[in-house]
Amino acid sequence: MVEVNKADVLLGLQWGDEGKGKIVDVLTPHYKMVARFQGGPNAGHTLVFEGKKYILHTIPSGIFHRGCVNLVGNGVVLDPFIINNELDQLNLPLDVLKESLFVCGKAHLILPSHRLLDAAFEKKKGKGKIGSTLKGIGPAYTDKVARTGLRLADTASVTFREKYNALKEEHLRLAGDLGYALDELTLDGLSFPEYEDAWFQGLERLKALPRVQSEVFVNEALDKGARVLAEGAQGTLLDIDFGSYPYVTSSNTITAGACIGLGVAPTRIGEVFGVFKAYCTRVGSGPFPTEAVDEEATHLREQGNEYGSTTGRPRRCGWLDLPALRYAVMINGATRLIMTKVDVLNRMETIKVCVAYDLNGETQTLPPLSSGPDNLRPVYRELPGWQCSLENAETFEQLPQALLNYVAMIEDFVNVPVDIISTGPDRQQTLIRKGAGILKRLAVINEPQK
Ligand code: IMP
Repeated sequence: MVEVNKADVLLGLQWGDEGKGKIVDVLTPHYKMVARFQGGPNAGHTLVFEGKKYILHTIPSGIFHRGCVNLVGNGVVLDPFIINNELDQLNLPLDVLKESLFVCGKAHLILPSHRLLDAAFEKKKGKGKIGSTLKGIGPAYTDKVARTGLRLADTASVTFREKYNALKEEHLRLAGDLGYALDELTLDGLSFPEYEDAWFQGLERLKALPRVQSEVFVNEALDKGARVLAEGAQGTLLDIDFGSYPYVTSSNTITAGACIGLGVAPTRIGEVFGVFKAYCTRVGSGPFPTEAVDEEATHLREQGNEYGSTTGRPRRCGWLDLPALRYAVMINGATRLIMTKVDVLNRMETIKVCVAYDLNGETQTLPPLSSGPDNLRPVYRELPGWQCSLENAETFEQLPQALLNYVAMIEDFVNVPVDIISTGPDRQQTLIRKGAGILKRLAVINEPQK
């Protein structure tokens, strides 16, 4: 039987912000295509190289490598205003851009009035608010599922402006019913009409990018032997079905989301690289059993620079939650793990790690996947910290023994190997374990491309 060429998936195993962008950027030289499959500009993928920092919201993280094809898949929601800003930041010549960035016509548009609705819904929820990034994600996906949304391909229709206006009017009416007025809102420092003008300018630029059908584009590339990496956004515990509902995002952030958001069959998924931080963070509301308080939280936030790359909000910080990680490994079928931001724990005397939960004296081993009982308490195991810089470690194997013990404990618990450790934001600060499965996979995929 002929071996099928499969797409690999890389995604977050926690509540987002695991450092996926950096890892995609490191792995990109081994791939011909990097494809985003869900979410939108609620994401902020940070890449640092040659002393410069870039934040990508919609554009896949392979964009900085010449020769890599970057695809924004059908499952993504697009805000032309934000994409326009991203393109300005990239500053790539048009001919390079036309060879390296492709967008699926089936992807839905986030209208300025979707952002208005996002703000109106959050305000209405009051204390029960989700803590949304307010980028219009929920309302845009709502219109998609309600079959009232507008897709990028619709912009070619002569009736597009008419449909846009009708949908906008509907949104304004709804926002008005919720007691929310247009002049209450500024969008990225602009009034609604200013934002709308800039949005339409951005739309012209977006329309000029090569348009494809992601399912055909990806499957044909795979048929020709091209190596494809699907890049997830947010994280498993924010998944609309399997996250801590309702405190989640509005898309499927898990491996299955890559099938839906690109049009790739489950039988064509190869390796699943799960990225997690050596501790945990969460932005916005919702259960977080291992959330730290006081000095511990401040230490993690300051050492890890835990402020949202999209919103600037301080992130909630806490300890690694192993039952939640094991759940994420299961739901994604993760085959290799990548642990990031390990250096943030360098000065910790003791590392706490949650191994179960206690609910009224009873042990629980599943994370809270709804708004959850308030009295769920983490059961911690404490490990000695390594208390030194990791700068001298040139290989994975040279990392301090206390850190290697931490890794071994995680692997025992979730039963998947940790193949890569990231010890800082730069591309260079990435240690791959000797003989790791990921190396074998990358060696296979480095065979000459057809
Ligand atoms: P929304 O997707 O902007 O509606 O936000 C829903 C929830 O997901 C909120 O708690 C956000 O803070 C969180 N969220 C959305 N995108 C990201 C992300 O890229 N990283 C981390 N949290 C996110």
